Amino acid sequence: SLAVENVQLLASEDFKDIPPRYVRPEFESEEILDDHSIKIPVIDMDKLVTGQLGYDEELQKLHLACKDWGFFQLINHGGIEIIEKMKAVTEQFFSLPLEEKMEWAQPPDDIEGYGHLFVFSEDQKLDWADVFFLYLLPVSLRKMRLWPEKPIHRISMSLFRLIEINLGVEPGNLSRLFDQDCKQGIRLNYYPPCKHADKVIGLTPHSDAVGLTLLVQVNDIQGLQMKKNGKWLPIIPAPGAIIVNIGDMLEIMSNGEYSSIEHRAVVNYQTERISLATFQMPDLATMLGPLPELVDNNQPKFVKMSIEEFLRLNLRNRLDGKRLLNEMKL
Ligand code: SIN
Ligand code: FE2
Repeated sequence: SLAVENVQLLASEDFKDIPPRYVRPEFESEEILDDHSIKIPVIDMDKLVTGQLGYDEELQKLHLACKDWGFFQLINHGGIEIIEKMKAVTEQFFSLPLEEKMEWAQPPDDIEGYGHLFVFSEDQKLDWADVFFLYLLPVSLRKMRLWPEKPIHRISMSLFRLIEINLGVEPGNLSRLFDQDCKQGIRLNYYPPCKHADKVIGLTPHSDAVGLTLLVQVNDIQGLQMKKNGKWLPIIPAPGAIIVNIGDMLEIMSNGEYSSIEHRAVVNYQTERISLATFQMPDLATMLGPLPELVDNNQPKFVKMSIEEFLRLNLRNRLDGKRLLNEMKL
């Protein structure tokens, strides 16, 4: 990424007009789906791991959540304690003085570290947020030892095992790609308040490139929205819930049975918002393509390429809805 101004610092300054690079009129007119009866599905993990009462029903609910929504919230996931720790570390990090945060600054041409998401040109429009991105897995590549990623990895593995049952895939044929040798990244997002919140965007609309994303709202301030029926649906998580969304790689592997959904983050007028996203993806050398078991009559819906190549293209395309995935359609 090219170095750009720190947004947390910028937001603390007394300015009359927002710097033009942050003004995003293209989003001002987009409609909000303002119907409080429409909510993303809630999946009770407890019913799915104990395999007891309600298992079949919950498994079916998960399938429909993946198929029709691409987004759901996970409750009773068993990760509360570790998530509380991760939240505390995240809040502590963003409250450090700027000089200390800058010790973790993104090196030029790297996406890891503290800085801005995907900045490649001097005239590119910018999101109203600072981010901190790190790879947690494989452990050999981890730059910061602090992160207790294991339970999140365990929860995502449980989900992949359930998803392969739902897709009718031989046990292991999907989930093992996300096990031991997988890649896991984490991104901490800091959205400062903005007195022109309606003119900026916290995170440009995009679908996630990865397999699954597990998302935690760190300070319980709303801002995440998903595309539903052509409008933006605000997502309001239950306390302690993990929001899960399907990424492009899982859409491809499922040969389109599941879809990744566009989402974005908006900014608040008065309050900072902090969130934390963990991204699960296969090892870079893995060939990405529809799982052979899911290709009927030899009709794959997507081209094949390595995970490495896909991530490279994704970086080059930056955040732009589902454009990259659409280009991969056969
Ligand atoms: C993301 O899409 O990765 C983050 C969304 C959020 O801040 O809730
Ligand atoms: Fe995302």
